[in-house]
Amino acid sequence: MANKLFRRKPLHVLLEELHGENRLRRILGPITLTSLGVGAIIGTGIFVLTGVAAHDKAGPALMLSFVVAGVTCLFAAFCYAEFASMVPVAGSAYTYAYATLGELFAWIIGWDLVLEYAVASATVAHGWSHYFQDFISTFKIYIPKVIGWAPFKLDTATGKISASGSWIDLPAIVITALVTVVLVRGIRQTATFNASMVILKLIIVVFVIVVGAFYVNPKNWTPFAPFGLSGISFFGKTIFGKSMGGAPVGMLAGAAISFFAYIGFDSISTHAEEAKRPHKDVPIAIISSLVICTVLYILVSMVLTGMVPYNQIDINAPVSQAFKQVGLGWAQFLVSLGALAGITSVLVVMMLSLPRVLLAIARDGLLPPKFFGAVHEKFRTPWKSTILVGFFVALLSAALPLELLAELVNIGTLLAFVIVCAAVLIMRKTHPEAERPFRVPLFPVTPILGVLLCLMLMFSLPPANWLRLFVWLFVGLIIYIFYGRKHSIMNRMEGTEAAKDVSVAK
Ligand code: ALA
Repeated sequence: MANKLFRRKPLHVLLEELHGENRLRRILGPITLTSLGVGAIIGTGIFVLTGVAAHDKAGPALMLSFVVAGVTCLFAAFCYAEFASMVPVAGSAYTYAYATLGELFAWIIGWDLVLEYAVASATVAHGWSHYFQDFISTFKIYIPKVIGWAPFKLDTATGKISASGSWIDLPAIVITALVTVVLVRGIRQTATFNASMVILKLIIVVFVIVVGAFYVNPKNWTPFAPFGLSGISFFGKTIFGKSMGGAPVGMLAGAAISFFAYIGFDSISTHAEEAKRPHKDVPIAIISSLVICTVLYILVSMVLTGMVPYNQIDINAPVSQAFKQVGLGWAQFLVSLGALAGITSVLVVMMLSLPRVLLAIARDGLLPPKFFGAVHEKFRTPWKSTILVGFFVALLSAALPLELLAELVNIGTLLAFVIVCAAVLIMRKTHPEAERPFRVPLFPVTPILGVLLCLMLMFSLPPANWLRLFVWLFVGLIIYIFYGRKHSIMNRMEGTEAAKDVSVAK
C-alpha cells in the first residue's frame, strides 16, 4: 500500500510519453513564451491588490514588499526552470513531483495547482470587474451594485467576512465565459490575442510609472512603514511585528499579499509541451518574464505610494483612482483601459494553464481520462476541461470576495513552490546523472532559500488561510483514495520496468 502511494513515475517514461499520440502542438518560441509569462503575471495583483496591501498591510513599505515577494519567486523560478528543462511536458509542478516525491505527493501538488489556477482565475475575473466598472464610470455609466459585486466582503484589516449587499458579480461571469470560448478555439489564436493585450498593458504600466513620477510627493513616503517591517504569525500567535484582528500586518504581510502579483511565471512551465525548444526557451522565458515584472512592480508601487498618502489609496481600482486623485481624470480612463487589457490577458493564461495540468493528471489515470484527457480533434485543445474550468471559475468569482480568493491562492501557490524547490534538492540526489540543460545556480543554497522564504510568506498570511488550505487538501485526498489510487496508470505498469524503478528509488 505504502509502495503504491509513493511510487514514482520514471523520468524515461515521462520523456517517452513526449513522443506519443495525442500531444499538443509545438508552436511557441521564446518571445511568445515570455509574452505568455508577462501576460500571466501583470494583472490584478498590481492593478488591484496593491490597494489593500498598501492601505491595510504595509504603507509605503509596499515597495520593499514587492522586493521580498519578487526575490522569493526568483528562487522558486530557478527551480521551475531546472525542472522544465529536464522534463518538458505539460503538468508543471505536478509532473516534477511525480518523478521525485511519488504519486501521493504528485496528486496533492496537482490538486494544489488546481486551487492555484482556478481560484486565481476567479480572483482575476473579479479584478477585471472592478476595472471594468471603473472604466465605464468614466462615461458616467454604472452597473447596479446588486449585480456588480460578490455577495460577501472580507475586511482585510480585521479578517471579518460580512454581507456586501450585492448578489453576484455579473461582469466577472461574463468575462469568464468570453475567455472560455476563446480558449476552446485554440492556442495559436490565444497566443496572438495575448500578445496584443500584453503590449497594451506594458505601455500602460510604463505610462503609470513615467507620468505618475511627476505627481510623486516624497512626503507621502513618511511614515515609510506605518505597520512595521515584519509581520509573521504562527497559527494565530504573532511572532514578529504586529497583528490586527489576528492577521499579521507589516512589510512582510504586504509581501504575502503582493505575492499574488507574481503568480503566473510558473504557468510558462505548463506550456513546455507546446514549446518549440522547451529545454532552452522555457527557462529563459520563466526568468526573463519574472525579472521584467519585478522591476516594473517596484517602480509602480513607489509611484503609487508617492502619489497618494497610503491611507487614502483606493482599494478597488487603486492605480487608476490615484490619477483621478491627483486631478488627471483623462489618465484614469487610459489606466483603467490598460488594466482591463492586462487583467484579461492574465485570465487567458491562467484559464489556459489549468486544463493542461488536468490533462497531465488525467493521462496518468488520477482523473477520468475520457473527460480531462480529451483533446479536440480540430482545435487540438483540451476542450471539455476548459469548459468545466470556465464554469467553476465563473461560479467562484460570482460568489466569493476578491481578497479572500487572493489569500487562498497565495497560500496554495506558496505550498506548490515549497514542493518544487524541495523536489529539485531530491532529484539532484536521486537522479544526479539526468540531463539538465538548465541548472539552478548556487545549488543547494537557492532551493533551500526558496523553501524558507516561501514558508515565511505562508506564515505572513492571515492564519485562517491555513485552515482553508487544509480543507482543500483533505478534499483532494478523498478523491485520490476513492478514484486516483485505483485508476492510476502506474497500476498497469506494475511488474514492468517502472516497478523496478520504484523499488530502486525507495
Ligand atoms: N499575477 C497575476 C495577477 O496579478 C495572477 O493578476
